[in-house]
Amino acid sequence: MSIAYLNGEYLPLAEARISPLDRGFLFGDGIYEVIPYYSGKSVGLVPHIERMIDGLAAIEIKCKKSADEWKVLLDDLIARNQGATNNLGVYVHVSRGTDVKRFHAYPENVEPTIFCFTFGIKDPEPVDREKVHAYTVTTSEDLRWKRCHIKSTALLGNVMHFQQGHASGNSECLLYNAKNELTEGSSVNAYIVKDGVVITPIQDNQILPGITRRIIIDSLKAEGSIKVEERIVSMDEVYNADEVWISSSSKEIAPIVQIDGKPVGDGKVGPVWEAAFRIYTDAKFTHS
Ligand code: PDD
Repeated sequence: MSIAYLNGEYLPLAEARISPLDRGFLFGDGIYEVIPYYSGKSVGLVPHIERMIDGLAAIEIKCKKSADEWKVLLDDLIARNQGATNNLGVYVHVSRGTDVKRFHAYPENVEPTIFCFTFGIKDPEPVDREKVHAYTVTTSEDLRWKRCHIKSTALLGNVMHFQQGHASGNSECLLYNAKNELTEGSSVNAYIVKDGVVITPIQDNQILPGITRRIIIDSLKAEGSIKVEERIVSMDEVYNADEVWISSSSKEIAPIVQIDGKPVGDGKVGPVWEAAFRIYTDAKFTHS
């Protein structure tokens, strides 16, 4: 049984309880993070914490924990759960807290609810285009809200898009806006590769500023052998790309070989994926 953290207490996950009047439960009024730890070593811990603090400020949840206090809490929770499995993800959830009634306005004098738990994650995929697990995706117009840069716990829009992919036998759903421009996937950032250049949509309100995305861009730029561009990507470019990838804290960089049943490029995992995944893998524990 994994040990969870709830409002200052460590306890078995099955014993953790919150009130049904918690605003996270009633309104999805909160911010969350998912941070991977491989054999006790985190990937992107500092930027994950910074993104959470920014998200809390954006929705005016007053959580008193400093970045250093978060780091101690999360490392401590990982240490308490290490052993059962080598690789762990930590889910961190801060809601606005428990009110005494259901009323939309932000309540005053309510303490945020802080809940964290760990779960086992898989070993990283091999840096080998012949052996890596390749994904297939479907596509849909992005019908979520216009504040996708906030990592809100209100994920119904994302969940419905993810389900579209899942129900059609795919593992993700790539999303595009009303101008037919790629935004991201329902739970991942997205990339195309054309003529050796990695291209990913601009970081704006239409996408989550992914930490894996940040590490990919920074590590590729620092290493220098693969060009990266952040710009608008049309869906025509997606369909005609040599390679398409998705990224997240749990999938790292994952290659897509089929979109809506049609092959991406030659239908095989491409060489730029392998080169980029090697660079990312070498950099991921030291990026900050
Ligand atoms: N998903 N875009 C969306 C909509 C996401 O939900 C996620 C993460 C990402 C990638 O962000 P990062 O690289 O920081 O994990 C992009 C998480 C893992 C989830 O909801 O489980």
